[in-house]
Amino acid sequence: MEVIIRSDAHAASRLAARKIAALVRREPSAVLGLATGRTPLEIYEHLVEYHRNEGLDFSRVTTFNLDEYVGLDPKHPASYHAYMEGVLFSKINIDRGRIHLPDGLATDIPKTCRDYEARIRAAGGIDLQILGIGSDGHLGFNEPSSSLSSRTRIKTLTDRTRKDNAAYFGGEESVPRHVITMGLGTIMDANVCLLLAFGRKKAAAIAHAVEGPVTAMVPASVLQMHPRAIVVLDREAASELKRAEYYQWVYAHKPDWQKH
Ligand code: GLP
Repeated sequence: MEVIIRSDAHAASRLAARKIAALVRREPSAVLGLATGRTPLEIYEHLVEYHRNEGLDFSRVTTFNLDEYVGLDPKHPASYHAYMEGVLFSKINIDRGRIHLPDGLATDIPKTCRDYEARIRAAGGIDLQILGIGSDGHLGFNEPSSSLSSRTRIKTLTDRTRKDNAAYFGGEESVPRHVITMGLGTIMDANVCLLLAFGRKKAAAIAHAVEGPVTAMVPASVLQMHPRAIVVLDREAASELKRAEYYQWVYAHKPDWQKH
């Protein structure tokens, strides 16, 4: 795991956005795995800015989102379909046929999950997967106890996650109980995993995921087994890491060519 600690969430988001933009410039038909939540918002703002000001071209990029709520209309403002449309898709030149999110309204959920996996395979796999982390260490919606080799499937949310996401629904009682999420095995197949976490609230989850044992109780810890996992943090999210100074020293002494 490469751990990069920046002074604040702005600097961390800028660094992550630059990495994604560099990939799209290098490989215009890159396949991006996208995440939702508050954490990646600023990354998407930067990508829109690069598109508008520097002509960053998304016309051949393919995207796969991590997850979606079951039973939620894509037009519902708290759906991840609506989120992606609002923060990114409506603002860049992406080909709509290349956008993929799990279908929360599917009547045959096992089939829609199998199809999602097949589409990822048909696209040649995910080049870079953006990830946030839940306060309980979840990735996507892979809650603690998720199989470390799980594939896209239906999951039941924990009370904690439903509380964390209650603000989007105007109260916890309206948060759906079920979701479709890429599995941890699906995420691990991505060529690069880029995990971001900001704020004190994520510090314990990050410490467990980065320096604790690999365990299904902390789903993000599976990234310790990934050959190219990059963890980008602000100081607060890094505050419980025992080896924070070492990670900073390593990054400061990296050759320039390795930083991109
Ligand atoms: C949800 C999403 C995750 C996200 C997490 C953290 O559970 N399914 O993909 O990483 O929330 O969200 P936030 O970035 O808002 O803290």
